[in-house]
Amino acid sequence: MDTARLVSSRAKGIDASGIRRVFELGAKLKDPINLSIGQPDFPVPAGIKRAAIEAIEQDRNGYTLTQGIPELRARIASHLEGDLGWTGLESPDSGLGVCVTSGTSGALLLAMLAVLDPGDELIIPDPYFVMYPHLATMTGAKAVRCDTYPDFRMTAERVEPLITEKTKVLLVNSPSNPAGIVLSREACRDLLEMCRAKNVLLISDEIYDEFTYRDARTDTGIGSGLSVCPSPGRFEGAASDVLLVRGFGKTYGITGWRMGYVAGPKAVVDQIAKLQQYTFVCAPSMAQWGSLAAFDADITGHVDDYQKRRDLVLAKLGPHTEVQTPGGAFYAFPQVPERLGLSASAFIERALEKSVLVIPGKVFSERDTHFRLSYATKMQNLERGLDALAALMR
Ligand SMILES: Cc1ncc(COP(=O)(O)O)c(C=O)c1O
Repeated sequence: MDTARLVSSRAKGIDASGIRRVFELGAKLKDPINLSIGQPDFPVPAGIKRAAIEAIEQDRNGYTLTQGIPELRARIASHLEGDLGWTGLESPDSGLGVCVTSGTSGALLLAMLAVLDPGDELIIPDPYFVMYPHLATMTGAKAVRCDTYPDFRMTAERVEPLITEKTKVLLVNSPSNPAGIVLSREACRDLLEMCRAKNVLLISDEIYDEFTYRDARTDTGIGSGLSVCPSPGRFEGAASDVLLVRGFGKTYGITGWRMGYVAGPKAVVDQIAKLQQYTFVCAPSMAQWGSLAAFDADITGHVDDYQKRRDLVLAKLGPHTEVQTPGGAFYAFPQVPERLGLSASAFIERALEKSVLVIPGKVFSERDTHFRLSYATKMQNLERGLDALAALMR
C-alpha cells in the first residue's frame, strides 16, 4: 500500500523533528543533566492520590457527564469566583459555563475547533508553547505570530497591527512557556479592551496559574503574597469575554491524568462540550475525582522552592547572557550569547557534549537564538547543569 498517499496534509504539516531530536540525543547520554522536562518534580499530594484510588475502588470507573462530574464543576466555579470574581458560572441563565476536559491540550484543541473556520486567523505569541501553531494546522486556520522578543511580553501595542477582518482568536499565555513571563495587570486590561473593541475572543491559557512567584504577584499588582491572592487573577470580572483554560496536570504533578477545564461564555463552552461528546467523550473519571481533592492541596511551599531555583538560574547565567526574569512557571529562556556566533541548535549540541539537556529556541519560535531550560529538577542537578552552561557561555 502507498502509505505516503494516506497521510493527510494536516498531519504532514506538523514537524515534530526538532524536539524529537533533542530527546533522541538525550536518550543516548549515560547520566544526563536533564533540564528539558516540562513537569513538576515534587510528589503528587497524598490526598489527590487517595481520592483517585478511592474512586476506582468505589466503582466510579464509567463514563461521566461529558462536561464533567457536577461536584468538580461546582468546585471549579467557586474557585473562580474567589479567584477572579467570576460569578454565576454554574447558574443556567448566566450566559456562562464550565466544562472539564481531557487535559489542557484537549481544552485548547476543542476551543479552537469550536470557534475557528478554515481561513480564520488565530494570533499566538512567539515564542509559544509547541502546540499553538498546530492548533491552526489542525483547524485549517492561520496562526499569526506576535513577535514578543526581547522581553517576551504580549502587549496590545504588539498585537493590534496583526488584527485583520479574519482574526477570531487571541491566545494569551501567562505565566508563559517557554519564558515564564507573567503579564502585568495593565497589559491584561489593555489586551482585553482591544479584544472587546475588535470583537476577537481572548483565550487565556493559564495552565501555570498557581506557579506565579511572590515577587511577580507584587510586581504585577496582583497581590502581595500567595495567601492574599491564591492565583494571578488577571481577567477579573471578564467571564463573558474571556475563555479561560486551566489545568491540574502541572499544578499537582498529575500530567499523565489528562485533566483540564474551560470556563467562560456559555455559547462557546456548550460547543466545546458538544465536540468533546464526539471526540474525547469525557475526562478520565478517576482523575476527575482526584482533581476534586486537588482544591484542598497546598503547593505554596513547592512554588516558593521553584522561586529559589529561578533565582539560582538568574545568578548563574545572568552574568553571561540576557535572561528575562521568569515570574512564574518553571522555565527560563536565556539567549545564546551573540559573541559565541552560534545558533541555539548548535549551542545545545555543545551542551549535550557536557551531558546537559536543554531545548533550542526554534522548537518554540521562528528564531533560533535562545534555549529553554526547565528548573523543575533537584537543586543539585540544576546547579551542575547551570555551571556547565555558564562555562560554555564564558
Ligand atoms: C502553555 C501550555 N499550555 C498547555 C499545555 C498542555 O498541558 P496538558 O498536559 O494539560 O495538556 C502545556 C504543557 O506543557 C503548556 O506548557
